[in-house]
Amino acid sequence: MKQGFHALILAAGKGTRFKSRTIKVLHPLMGKPMIRIVLDTVARLGPDRIFVVVGYQKERMEKALASNDLTFVEQKSQLGTAHAVRAAGRILRPYPDQDVLVMNGDLPLIRPETLRPLLKQHRSQGNALTFMSAVMSNPFGFGRVIYLDDQRIRIVEEKDATPDQRRIKEANVGIYLFKIKDLLWALPKISNRNVKGEYYLTDVIEILSASGRRVAACPTRSDDEIVGVNDRLDLARAIHKLRERKIKLLTEQGVTFYDPSSSWVDFDVKVGADSVIYPSVVLEGTTRIGRECVLYPGVHVTNSQVGNRVTILSHSLLEEAKVADEARVGPYARLRPGTRLRRDARVGNFVEMKNTDFGPGSKAMHLSYVGDAVVGAKVNIGAGTITCNYDGVMKHKTRIDGGAFIGSGTQLIAPVKVGKNAYVGAGSTITKDVSPNSLAVARSRQMEKKGWKRKRKRKK
Ligand code: UD1
Ligand code: CA
Repeated sequence: MKQGFHALILAAGKGTRFKSRTIKVLHPLMGKPMIRIVLDTVARLGPDRIFVVVGYQKERMEKALASNDLTFVEQKSQLGTAHAVRAAGRILRPYPDQDVLVMNGDLPLIRPETLRPLLKQHRSQGNALTFMSAVMSNPFGFGRVIYLDDQRIRIVEEKDATPDQRRIKEANVGIYLFKIKDLLWALPKISNRNVKGEYYLTDVIEILSASGRRVAACPTRSDDEIVGVNDRLDLARAIHKLRERKIKLLTEQGVTFYDPSSSWVDFDVKVGADSVIYPSVVLEGTTRIGRECVLYPGVHVTNSQVGNRVTILSHSLLEEAKVADEARVGPYARLRPGTRLRRDARVGNFVEMKNTDFGPGSKAMHLSYVGDAVVGAKVNIGAGTITCNYDGVMKHKTRIDGGAFIGSGTQLIAPVKVGKNAYVGAGSTITKDVSPNSLAVARSRQMEKKGWKRKRKRKK
């Protein structure tokens, strides 16, 4: 539901303290760029429109956010947070009596629940400006809130603060709700006479309050949400907190983590109830794990769909794979993109699969490569079997029909088919199709020279 306000997210700054070639707000936290986390949070409050101020790496930003319903505003040079808001002046001017939520783009830990009291207080008090503040045990780096008298409030930035002011614990979070006409009135009055030589948005607070307009802080107690991510240590801390939150949510949904602190789960990952996650498991991207699965230590799953009651043994890697119910994978298995394991299939140690449909109840238990293959039901692939799918130029298909048995150490030179219930003798190099129900043996016959060792000794 639309809530009758606009949102403006500031994301034009380079993020110098990151020392990165990539703009700060595009750095991902658990699979999602920082700016998208912030935008998703804001979207949940139901603003009429969301504007994003972009500047540094504008094209990359617009491309990364193309799927979201946003309006971009350009800040050509980055001269400070007030300058960034000014860039949106033209777009805000048609709505003088509406409110705009202005938020720094580097606050990925803020939750919608924490922003709602700001909207509520702003409206109930009829303020020109309500800004979020927090009392912090260590407010280093934040602007500090100074109450000059009953009416006037000032924010002083860390770098501009006196030692006395630095001792103030109430910090400016970087989230503001303005009546648009009051914001537009105050912005041109800001100067850049400060240590950084920037136009500080925070100066609006003193300008508006000194003019007699109603300005108030909305103090939040959620002080673990207000990490402004300025450097890579902040990033690590923010990731740590988001990960804790994600894992807590999954445990509430019925997932067991034996060691939450060593497991890694991206934002969009889903895990079904009664699944058990051993230590050091990594679940990334759009991965879905079903119910009652067991994931042993060191399992790493990326963008894959795993069904119910699946067991994945230690140190297996799955990428863009689909694994049906009751399958068993690993230890040390590698399922590459396009692998599809059907119900009850088994893939064992040191087996690599790629772009392969592996039928229900089929097994490849040891040391094999199966690529570009279609394997029917209840097929047995012996140890060391290799589909030779690549001729140096093109990839070719291997088809193994249901019930077939491939002896150990076989090479299947694709394109090739092995028919239903056929047998391939161990050590074969199969270059021609094998018809159903037959036995193919394709290896040279063994020869033997009787007494060869003794004869050789005599020669010496
Ligand atoms: C800002 C506040 C500070 C507050 C802190 C909370 C100011 C002057 N200070 O400081 O009081 O405690 O956030 O985290 O606002 N940006 C632009 N264009 C610019 C400059 C910045 O779009 O020209 C964007 C950045 O991309 C960033 C956000 O504004 O997302 C905040 O800028 P940043 O430089 O991180 O401000 P802080 O120094 O953290
Ligand atoms: Ca910041």
